Amino acid sequence: MERIVEIEKFEAEGNYEKSLRPSRWDDYIGQEKIKNNLEVFIQASLARGEALDHILFFGPPGLGKTTLANIISGMMGSNIKTTAAPMIEKAGDLAAMLTNIEEGDILFIDEIHRMSPAIEEILYPAMEDFRLDIIIGSGPAAQSVKIDLPRFTLIGATTRAGMLSSPLRERFGMHFRMEFYTADELAEIVRRAADRLGCGIEEKASLEIAKRSRGTPRIALRLLRRVRDFSEVAGEDIITIESAKFGLDRLGVNHLGFDEQDIRLLELLISAKGRPMGLSTIAAAMSEDEGTIEDVLEPYLIANGYIERTARGRIATPKTYEMFRLTPPSAGGLFG
Ligand SMILES: Nc1ncnc2c1ncn2[C@@H]1O[C@H](COP(=O)(O)OP(=O)(O)OP(=O)(O)O)[C@@H](O)[C@H]1O
Ligand SMILES: [Mg+2]
Repeated sequence: MERIVEIEKFEAEGNYEKSLRPSRWDDYIGQEKIKNNLEVFIQASLARGEALDHILFFGPPGLGKTTLANIISGMMGSNIKTTAAPMIEKAGDLAAMLTNIEEGDILFIDEIHRMSPAIEEILYPAMEDFRLDIIIGSGPAAQSVKIDLPRFTLIGATTRAGMLSSPLRERFGMHFRMEFYTADELAEIVRRAADRLGCGIEEKASLEIAKRSRGTPRIALRLLRRVRDFSEVAGEDIITIESAKFGLDRLGVNHLGFDEQDIRLLELLISAKGRPMGLSTIAAAMSEDEGTIEDVLEPYLIANGYIERTARGRIATPKTYEMFRLTPPSAGGLFG
C-alpha cells in the first residue's frame, strides 16, 4: 500500500493543494515558537533594509516548510525562486539561478540534503560572502571567474537534517525544527480549508479528522477532501461526524490516525518480544527503504511514545502493547 504522505506529496503537484495553501502569516496555524522568532528576525531585517539571514527548515513531510518559505517571501516583499537540490545537476545550473536574483530575493532549495558535494562547494562562498567562484572551460584554458552576487536569502528545507554536511548546516543563520501539530490546530486548519472548499463541517467532524491526521496538515487536508466525497454521496448539506467517522474508517485510518503501514511496523516491533530491532531489519521485513521508515513513518510514532529508539535498535513501548491489548514483556526490566 502506498502511504498517504507519499500520495499527498504527489498530489501536491496538482492544483488543489496550492489553492488550500495559506499565503498570509495569520492563516498559518500553529508552529508558534517558529513564527514568534521569525517575526522578530523579519521585522529587524526589514527595519535595517537588509536581506534576511539564511534559514533552514527541517522536519517530517507535510508540516508546512514550503508554505512557510512562501509566506516569508510575502512578508519580506521579495521574490522567491524555488528549486529542489536534485534538479541542480551542474555548477552552471546554480550559477544561472544565483546571477538571476535581485537584492533581497529568496532562493528556496527543497530537499537540500540531496545536494551534490560539487554544488555545495559553490554554494558556500555564495551564502557566506555573496560571491560566486566558478571555473569556466577545462584543461589549460580553464579560467576561474569571480562574480559578486546581490545579498539574497537562502531558505533550505529538508526532512533529514542529519544528512546535511556540517559546513552547509553551519552556514544557515537560523535553524527551525518543525513540530507536529496539535489536534486543535489541525481542526482549525480543517475548518478554514472546508470554508475555502465551500463546504460546511460540524465542529466534531473537523476534530475527528484532526485527531486522525498524524499531526500533519497535509494529511488533514487530504482526509478532509476524501471525507467530503463520502459526505456528498450521502447527500449531506454539511460534513457530519457520522460521515467523517465512516469515511475515515473506510480509508483505513484507525482512531489514532495510524494507517496499515504504521500498524505493520508496530506489530513487527512487538513480534521481537522486547528485543531492539535494527533499521535495516525493519526495512527488509517491511520491504520499505530505510529513509522512508526513518523520515516518514517513525517520527510521529516516536513523538507520541509508541516507539523508542535505543542504541541497539527500535523497541515497542508499553503504550503500543496497550494499544494492541497485550502485556509488555518484562524480561530484563526493559521498561523498568
Ligand atoms: N501551518 C499551517 N497552516 C495551514 N495550512 C498548512 C500549514 N502547514 C501546512 N499547511 C498545508 O499543508 C500542505 C503541506 O504543507 P507544505 O507543502 O508546506 O509541507 P512541507 O513541509 O513543505 O512538506 P514536504 O517535506 O513534503 O515538502 C500545504 O499545502 C498547506 O496547505
Ligand atoms: Mg515542501
